[in-house]
Amino acid sequence: MLTDDRVVPVIAAADIERDAHAAFRRYRATHPFAILETGGHVVLRHEDVTRLSRDPRLQATETAIPAQGGVTAGPLFDIFQHGMLTANGQAHGRRRTPMSRALAAQAIDDFRPAVRVAAESLIEGCHRDGSIELASGFAARLPVLALAAMFGLPDQEVPEFIQDINEMNEFFRPNATARGMADAELAAAKVQYSLKKLIARKWVGQADDFLSQYLALAEGYQQLSGMEILIQIVQLIIGGTESVQTALVAQTANLLLNRSQWMAVCDDPTLVPAAVSESLRFEPGIAGVVRVSTEDIDIDRWTLPAGQLVILSSMSALRDERVFSRPDDFNIFRTELAASNLAFGGGPHKCVAEAFGRAELEVGLSVLAERLPGLTLDSRPAFSGHVFVRRTTECRVSWQS
Ligand code: HEM
Repeated sequence: MLTDDRVVPVIAAADIERDAHAAFRRYRATHPFAILETGGHVVLRHEDVTRLSRDPRLQATETAIPAQGGVTAGPLFDIFQHGMLTANGQAHGRRRTPMSRALAAQAIDDFRPAVRVAAESLIEGCHRDGSIELASGFAARLPVLALAAMFGLPDQEVPEFIQDINEMNEFFRPNATARGMADAELAAAKVQYSLKKLIARKWVGQADDFLSQYLALAEGYQQLSGMEILIQIVQLIIGGTESVQTALVAQTANLLLNRSQWMAVCDDPTLVPAAVSESLRFEPGIAGVVRVSTEDIDIDRWTLPAGQLVILSSMSALRDERVFSRPDDFNIFRTELAASNLAFGGGPHKCVAEAFGRAELEVGLSVLAERLPGLTLDSRPAFSGHVFVRRTTECRVSWQS
């Protein structure tokens, strides 16, 4: 228990907006957690984030977050009410198990060639131009094309699918405008509609693809409702788009900013997995996971109070000097890379699609390194978001065509 009158520090909104890494570094040195001026307690150290991600006293937020924003029904609310990410206990297990089985490692290995085809077609489409805005032209598209291929979406439906997903994701961004929220609601309804059509086709087809296998597993496993099945697929889309976009931009930019490491990856493709892991450590696509504390929790001699929104900050933990030497250096050759796995969370909600995410990042990097070894960084991206999904600004790259 907290036995003296020490005060938990408050991280000012302006400080964290200016440089979240610096703000976390400052408080991590002296405190296991801090309070965000914008709301929530943020846990800062690798050991605590790892341990607490498995602690049942921290629970997923269920429908608390949309309810706070006044959203209590509709297609966005459905995502929180019926999805695995925000569920606890038995409901979480029922929703997660069939998806996790459908996403078995073998299925992902079989799927890599489709991701490669998508990545190569994106590069082919702009090769003659000699430059591309990487965030929108490559990194935003690759994960959606990968999901479309995984779902067996007909080609002609892919452009609208991309647009609807981008609009739906607006809801999950900080400071979304009222207009953005209304568009997100509409887009979520459209995503639900196109997935319903797709699912109906799969029921009839009984093919051997990922979605058909998932549907068979979901139906057979504790009989998920139609809405639950639909929403787990929507969560796959939400979980697998912006986080991957940000990570794809971050890994390319960080390697190009450290040219000798980019050259090393181009010369030796076996370095690709380490480059992906180091980039996820250095600039993770997800900043942290959000929970609610159901009891007081002691950390060292401090007490995290019950009834609080708690952010387990992988973004801070992945630069913890107690675990990583020279944590603010980008170094694909570091020896402590296993600990960077925290980028995918931990405990019961650990990323259900980690293998799929890694495959996209590895294939995306391999294709860029093979096709464009002379790539140069023309505009350095900035990354924002320090609670959940992180976003990237534009990132222009060029090459000799
Ligand atoms: C850069 C790649 C990725 C990163 C860094 C990442 C990170 C994470 C993290 C930290 C969590 C835990 C969230 C929590 O505990 O609240 C998570 C869960 C999840 N992720 Fe990922 N992810 C990535 C890629 C993907 C992809 C490609 C998909 C889908 C195709 C996906 C789907 C999901 C889903 C559905 C969950 C919820 C799991 C559950 O609640 O049991 N993620 N991810």
